[in-house]
Amino acid sequence: MKQLVFATNNQHKTEEIRMALEGLYEVLNLEDIGCFVDIPETAATFEGNATLKSSYVAEHFRLDCFADDSGLEIEALNNEPGVYSARYSCSRDSQENINLVLQKMNGVENRKARFKTVISLMQNGQNHLFEGVITGSIRTELSGAKGFGYDPIFQPDGYNITFAEMEMSEKNKISHRALALQKMIAFLRNEATA
Ligand code: IMP
Repeated sequence: MKQLVFATNNQHKTEEIRMALEGLYEVLNLEDIGCFVDIPETAATFEGNATLKSSYVAEHFRLDCFADDSGLEIEALNNEPGVYSARYSCSRDSQENINLVLQKMNGVENRKARFKTVISLMQNGQNHLFEGVITGSIRTELSGAKGFGYDPIFQPDGYNITFAEMEMSEKNKISHRALALQKMIAFLRNEATA
């Protein structure tokens, strides 16, 4: 069976994809291929960072690979935190990142925001990009304890609860990451039957 590397160290994310691509690809992660380098994410866009990761593996390990990069874009903050989402407050602490967002959004009327994921699939030397977006708004206070990152302050459009109040199974159906993954999976399945 053809092999496909997912440029992640997250075992949970790997299992999810492994199940979705069962019978089509053998999905390996960075640990499986012995890649223990902290691949730099120095680009100014999600596309750029995802591509840096997928092409690193493709070049150094000569294997097809995909990588994702995600973040929160807030309209009133010129799409910040964006690619800096994980370390917006200069720390990787979610609570501190949320505090900084709430401080910058204090008194701001336009609360529109979106989560975005871009996947770069490097296949036979070609880069295929898949994007997933979910729009919503930034709450003025935290609500909920599930999820991670900015979930307690993000309310997706069409809901009156935050991502952190939502069951994981529900979030995983509508999230930016899920949408981007669905697009890539459809592309790979389509290709296999073409
Ligand atoms: P990554 O590229 O998936 O590692 O995401 C980068 C950062 O964006 C994370 O560290 C979080 O701060 C934020 N982020 C991405 N996806 C989500 C989400 O689904 N909920 C909350 N925060 C997220």
